[in-house]
Amino acid sequence: MTINLIACIDKSRGIGSNGSLLTKPPLDFPHFKKLTMGNIVVFGRSTFEEIGRPLTKRHNIVLSNQDIKLPNGVYHYKSVNQVLREYSSYAEENVELFICGGERLYNDFLPYSNKIYLTIVDHSFQEADRHFPEFSLDEWKVTSSVKNEATNEYPYDYYFVEYAKK
Ligand SMILES: NC(=O)c1ccc[n+]([C@@H]2O[C@H](COP(=O)([O-])OP(=O)(O)OC[C@H]3O[C@@H](n4cnc5c(N)ncnc54)[C@H](OP(=O)(O)O)[C@@H]3O)[C@@H](O)[C@H]2O)c1
Repeated sequence: MTINLIACIDKSRGIGSNGSLLTKPPLDFPHFKKLTMGNIVVFGRSTFEEIGRPLTKRHNIVLSNQDIKLPNGVYHYKSVNQVLREYSSYAEENVELFICGGERLYNDFLPYSNKIYLTIVDHSFQEADRHFPEFSLDEWKVTSSVKNEATNEYPYDYYFVEYAKK
């Protein structure tokens, strides 16, 4: 099993503003869907509430310290360690755990992650109030980078970048 962080960030590592996504590059959602399909997706409570429903054909996990009510089939955990313990039995299997945000989840899972999938938008949005953690290229290497050009529909270039732990 690999543990992956997946996020869309701006040039200043911004991910969100006022409880919503900071920006929505048009090809980002299909990219996210393709990568996560059939795998395990992990959300913080606020991000899950923002989406409002489980993602289809994926095993959905929500982290919250509260006793929250979740839709059928969504698994609730109270800590990162609880998730890691529960899924350690999948260690040898070809299943991927995708950490889908928000800010605290990315921070807390970064030390346990093997890969990072970032969509990086070539712009800094002033309104960002949530951020992806800093990580060092001494510890991570870029394994793939694909440029998407700005269009009339979306005025910024953006890149699909994959990193692997060295
Ligand atoms: N750009 C992107 O790719 C992306 C992806 C995801 C989210 N976002 C954006 O990020 C913002 C939401 O992020 P956020 O940081 O405010 O909230 P969040 O991480 O989605 O949710 C925070 C809540 O999740 C629970 N939680 C988080 N880490 C936990 C841990 N280690 N153990 C137990 N519970 C944990 C807590 O719930 P309780 O309070 O219930 O205990 C915490 O209050 C929104 O603006 C959203 O649009 C952007």
